[in-house]
Amino acid sequence: MTQEDLFKKLIAHSKEYGFIFQSSEIYDGLSAVYDYGQLGAELKNNIKKYWWEAMVRLNDNIVGIDSAIFMHPRIWEASGHVGAFNDPLIDNKDSKKRYRADVLLEEHIAKIEDKIEKEVEKGRKKFADSFDETKFRETNPNVIRNQNKIAEITHRMNGALNSNDLDALKQLILDCEIVCPISGTRNWTDVRQFNLMFSLQMGSTAESANTIYLRPETAQGIFVNFLNVQKTGRMKIPFGIAQIGKAFRNEIVARQFIFRMREFEQMEMQFFVRPGEELKWFAKWKENRMKWHKSLGVGDDNYRFHDHEKLAHYANAATDIEFNFPFGFKEVEGIHSRTDFDLGSHQKYSGKKLQYFDSETGESYVPYVIETSIGVDRMMLLILSSSYHEERLSDDEQRIVLHIPPVLAPVKLAVLPLLKKDGLPEKAREILNSLKCDFYCQYDEKDSIGKRYRRQDAIGTPFCITVDHQTLDDNTVTVRHRDTMEQQRVDISKIYEIINEQVSFKKIFEKLI
Ligand code: GAP
Repeated sequence: MTQEDLFKKLIAHSKEYGFIFQSSEIYDGLSAVYDYGQLGAELKNNIKKYWWEAMVRLNDNIVGIDSAIFMHPRIWEASGHVGAFNDPLIDNKDSKKRYRADVLLEEHIAKIEDKIEKEVEKGRKKFADSFDETKFRETNPNVIRNQNKIAEITHRMNGALNSNDLDALKQLILDCEIVCPISGTRNWTDVRQFNLMFSLQMGSTAESANTIYLRPETAQGIFVNFLNVQKTGRMKIPFGIAQIGKAFRNEIVARQFIFRMREFEQMEMQFFVRPGEELKWFAKWKENRMKWHKSLGVGDDNYRFHDHEKLAHYANAATDIEFNFPFGFKEVEGIHSRTDFDLGSHQKYSGKKLQYFDSETGESYVPYVIETSIGVDRMMLLILSSSYHEERLSDDEQRIVLHIPPVLAPVKLAVLPLLKKDGLPEKAREILNSLKCDFYCQYDEKDSIGKRYRRQDAIGTPFCITVDHQTLDDNTVTVRHRDTMEQQRVDISKIYEIINEQVSFKKIFEKLI
């Protein structure tokens, strides 16, 4: 199965089993907005719990807040979002379709890369065992010509983007002879900057209306509360403030399912440090965050850092944690050393001092900040895409299973009476009632036991407890393990321990301390 097929199947599976629905589906949907169904909401809550507790509970110098989505509009001037949170856009005059100019160019580059790969494949077939790929790439004239093309386009594109030269960006699109995929023409408008923030009117009458913005990141709610939290919590530097909440961006190229959405959720933490110590803390947070990801056990090779060479004007170090999604390695989390830019800027715009008095050094200063920022929805996609497997069990039987890490699995166990009679349902309900205060459980008595196992595999339930006639005689049940499909006969009193061992956060948190 190709990665593209896998991705399509995952999207269909997420809908079929109640994880993710298109928003407003009965009205034909709203683009790049999604709703989480009954299992998606559980998985999302578990992801948020894993992040929140790892931040707030395991670090005694990090506290969590929940700031409002609506904020004073000057905040977005101070943060730079009003002036510079833009994407360069271009319209095709014939199809009236709008594109991100840089994405059109990146897609053009991807097509040239495809040509290179096809050439390499041709070489591999032609030269068979004697094929030397490195040498072929260095010497084949078609490959060299296309590599040079990519280098030139990339150089011109980065130059135009960095200097905000929108005419140069349009000229590059024309020079590359890029056509609109809908109309097939090169009838392009000029490139314009488009601000990604959604604006709305606040106030009861038009006269008193005030334009405010839906926040494009949760971080600013932390910065503007920096002194409130520091003073009321008697926090001493270094310390952190964490927050989980919705963010909104009017993404023009919104695609790849829940990877890029217009309404999404972030888990952000700002860590306030002494000026001069920020790079030490940046390295520490890089390490901590990678450990958090890898502790879930979805494959260490699926992660990598992508250190930024070109830094935003306010940052003095930045990296992305990238994950191997079905469409390649892409950012799931950003870690930035943001200097004193945000607090310094809010101090200037609000006219209020945002300084910390350091009793150890006897100095007052604006702290420096290390930020860790991860998207909840991207983390959902990471978990779903890495756990989806189609497994052949025999010649005529296969199962679809979500190998979701048990701590995150939406349903932890299902209790299944073998038959719908002879007192088995009553016994099964009794077991369910004894466990449901500890774990999210399901009860299922419909269809054959095999079908019920398949249904639980498809939603990633790590354990199935089967109640049969022997249970009535000796108080034992069968515990069936999702990943190995092994079954063990145990006393009812042992069920809690077996399940808790796998689904409790304790073991995973112990690795993080
Ligand atoms: N405060 C820093 C900040 O917002 P960012 O790199 O723009 O930085 C951080 O976003 C994280 O938020 C990303 O790594 C990604 O996981 C998530 N994210 C950003 N835009 C998103 C979108 N349109 N849809 C889903 N997740 C998004």
